[in-house]
Amino acid sequence: MLMPNLMEAKKRSNKEVLIKTNEYIVKDNLKKLGLGKKYFIKTYGCQMNEHDTENIKAILEDMSFLETDNMEQADLILLNTCAIRENAHNKVFGMIGRIKHLKESNPNIIAGICGCMAQEESVVNEILEKYNWLDIVFGTHNIHNLPNILYETINKKDLEIEVLSIEGDIVENIPVKRDSKYKAWVNIMYGCDKFCTYCIVPYTRGKQRSRKPEFILQEVEELVKNSYKEVTLLGQNVNAYGKDLNINYNMGNLLENVAKTGIERVRFVTSHPWDFTDDMIDIISKYPNIMPYIHLPLQSGSSRILKLMGRRYTKEDYLTLFSKIKTSIPNCAITTDIIVGFPGETVKDFNETLEVVNKCKFDSAFTFIFSPREGTPAAKMQDDVSLEEKNNRLYELNELINKYSKEANDKYLNKVVPVLLESVSEKDENMLMGYTDTMKLVNVKASKDLIGKIVNVQIKDVKTWSMDGEVVD
Ligand code: 5AD
Ligand code: SF4
Repeated sequence: MLMPNLMEAKKRSNKEVLIKTNEYIVKDNLKKLGLGKKYFIKTYGCQMNEHDTENIKAILEDMSFLETDNMEQADLILLNTCAIRENAHNKVFGMIGRIKHLKESNPNIIAGICGCMAQEESVVNEILEKYNWLDIVFGTHNIHNLPNILYETINKKDLEIEVLSIEGDIVENIPVKRDSKYKAWVNIMYGCDKFCTYCIVPYTRGKQRSRKPEFILQEVEELVKNSYKEVTLLGQNVNAYGKDLNINYNMGNLLENVAKTGIERVRFVTSHPWDFTDDMIDIISKYPNIMPYIHLPLQSGSSRILKLMGRRYTKEDYLTLFSKIKTSIPNCAITTDIIVGFPGETVKDFNETLEVVNKCKFDSAFTFIFSPREGTPAAKMQDDVSLEEKNNRLYELNELINKYSKEANDKYLNKVVPVLLESVSEKDENMLMGYTDTMKLVNVKASKDLIGKIVNVQIKDVKTWSMDGEVVD
């Protein structure tokens, strides 16, 4: 048993990051472990987690398990969890309750959790106390070891906990089963060293570790060969890419080299305003295949709150960067994340957030009520804003955000824009869905053989969160 440890998780040393190219191995006796068995995996949280799930799927399939999207038919059930806010946490425990029923009628089911919640000491203690009928808990640093963890569980028939609380290395040879044949996630870095005071990620994902450019470029070139149209470069804070490599190579260089592979669309998430350089802005504006879309979390419009959050920029810095991007990258869409009700946030602070929203008129935003995460500095700050007040602030903010989302979309009416058609639309099976270069969701009247293609679409109707359009020649 390897238990998570919060004190260990927050340590940062100068220890060199090891790049392991042979770490993932499925021993011969494990290759058939899943024969005749089905797995079900549910993912919570961010794109990083979605991509980890693609790795986990490939590992399970290397062991002969087959995927099912029906949990009730599964022999192996995994929840890849998110720890970012309390509600993500509650959803997982709700799901664990459902799994318990299934396990009562079929005790042979193997069930477990992985991902960010597995890295939390308090969660694992709760599992040991109340849910010790679960079979596996493994962390974000242990994915490559899943074959051995599963083998142990099956043999011991006992709860197997394997969570490393380490700064982390990089395992380069984990396989991947991508959800899409057209767009792909590519990790460019792991972990985070920013330690914003509200955020649990630096504890659950380890220190900032950039992948070497040659590994990233090799992966993108492979995707180009396999006719992928779009890559999204992934990291908690992609603008800091390369800072830990000591090779004088940064996010601007990487973006440029990825663009030069010829892949039709390059995206990247998530940016931190602190590390966003002019070089990067230049590169984005220079290459037409780097998409004019930037997710730039604001978190708060009050410099006082930003300081308490440990964000390293002021409201003015953010506004300066915002207008630099808008003037240098034509038609660039900018979206954001905002937290309301951070400890000590006054009406004046909140009004400053609204003021920034009124200035920036974001294309859209994810908005959250502050959620204290055990072990983070903000969880210890005095939280004197009532829940009712927080809800009111969230409501007011959302109204404003929605107004600007609709306004941003309105500008598209009757315009012709490129859309990568991805699949049949969820709302109407006679339509397809896809995204514009600026990441606007469009439902398109088009024949199914256009799936996987970038087509010109004329926008015919505009709503707050999506648009409707028709293919034009
Ligand atoms: N409470 C509320 N929102 C949070 N986020 C991160 N941590 C917390 C927290 N403790 C939000 C931030 C971040 C997004 C991914 O989640 O806005 O950008
Ligand atoms: Fe959630 Fe952050 Fe973990 Fe992603 S990295 S799953 S957002 S806690």
